[in-house]
Amino acid sequence: MTAAANYGELIPNNVDLASDRRLQRALESWHPKFLNWWRLRGPEYFQDNEVYLRTATSVDRKGWAQFDRVKMPDYRWGIFLAEAHAHKTISFGEHRGDPVWHDVPGEYRAALRRLIVTQGDTEPASVEQQRLLAASAPSLLDMRNLFQVNVEEGRHLWAMVYLLMAYFGRDGREEAEQLLVRQSGNIDKPRILGAFNEKTPEWLSFFMFTFFTDRDGKFQLGALAESAFDPLARSCQFMLTEEAHHMYVGESGLSRVVQRACDIMRDKKTDDVRRFGGIDLPTLQRYINFHFSVSEDLFGAERSTNAANYFTSGLKGRYQESRLKDDHQLQDEPYTVLRIENGDIVECEVSALSVVNERLRDDYIADCQRGVDRWNKIIIACGIDFSFSLPHRAFNRHIGEFADINATPTGKIIDQIEWEKRSPEWLPSDRDREYVRSLMVQVTEPGAFAPWIAPPRIGINDQPVGFRYVCI
Ligand SMILES: [Fe+2]
Ligand SMILES: [Fe+2]
Repeated sequence: MTAAANYGELIPNNVDLASDRRLQRALESWHPKFLNWWRLRGPEYFQDNEVYLRTATSVDRKGWAQFDRVKMPDYRWGIFLAEAHAHKTISFGEHRGDPVWHDVPGEYRAALRRLIVTQGDTEPASVEQQRLLAASAPSLLDMRNLFQVNVEEGRHLWAMVYLLMAYFGRDGREEAEQLLVRQSGNIDKPRILGAFNEKTPEWLSFFMFTFFTDRDGKFQLGALAESAFDPLARSCQFMLTEEAHHMYVGESGLSRVVQRACDIMRDKKTDDVRRFGGIDLPTLQRYINFHFSVSEDLFGAERSTNAANYFTSGLKGRYQESRLKDDHQLQDEPYTVLRIENGDIVECEVSALSVVNERLRDDYIADCQRGVDRWNKIIIACGIDFSFSLPHRAFNRHIGEFADINATPTGKIIDQIEWEKRSPEWLPSDRDREYVRSLMVQVTEPGAFAPWIAPPRIGINDQPVGFRYVCI
């Protein structure tokens, strides 16, 4: 297999699609349906304008991103797997040490299909959630970043559809159709996971989504990148390189919102950031509380037999499995989790295998904390006495151990009456959301930015900040 993509074909790929006529025909017949979905449910605006986008052209370290001005419907969505390694073996579970699978073992067919469909469903879902945002983009650079995220989520859909069609026959082709039928927020045909049916109504939510929810994607992809089913592992490895950019969009976007708030506080010597058109730090904290807790739910219940089975059978590992120092089978490994006992949240030791989801959530939380620390550095550098924190994992949860209780952001269990009284302090209120929405104005002059967000220090791919990133 070569790493160079074949751009001579309708569907760019590095999987030698031309040698499999049947698969090629199946994908070619799905292609116009995808384009139709993109036109109808993808970005509502600027489909016919040129956008400065990067396109994957090969999967090696140097050459995978090529920047150019393209119209989004002409974007070269393609199928790219990270390079294959000869003699690769399974790194965890009961098949540890065996050669990785190049085909789907019969007994794992249903489970693998489900994992791929669930992952695949999130990709078009987020494009649908974000489809109206360009109308209120705070700058051309931000609008371009939104479109970059959108086209890459489109490509991630292609990656999962390829696996379904190449390895799951007729069932896979049917699932590929359904990925274009389900629709974010649709009552009758919703997307599979809750967070992907929520609205992304404005840019603060978009940055929060790319920071917190795309980061769930990073950890899910990281766990699937360890899979014994090698085509899935290699698809996810390559998707991770693109995913990193999505989280960067979130982290840097939020850094600039924090910077703007701090600039106002320092320059105007006031805490009343809203008076000067910024988003105040307590409001940002409430948005963090909301998006973090909703995204935590995406990891599923702490105790999960499904997750244990996926692990034991080698379908889905832990994040960076090969770097972990244990037996990679978890038969006798302990792991510490939180649980409710007699109305208190207490630590307890359980079998690591029974709480694989919780371990992934722990890795996720640690990664989120690093972003929060960076935002706090901005606040400290401005000499302001405030710091963000992630809420306790029991706060505002709807799945798992803490779904049936109410807890404060510091992890104290409270009753329903107190929750109803105090939760507006902790979660964005209608007034917060209204205020944030009121700030959203489209700014299309190159180099200009909406007043609620600071400009970035650098542009994209060495271009100046004032570059015409979208040709309007
Ligand atoms: Fe993605
Ligand atoms: Fe993403």
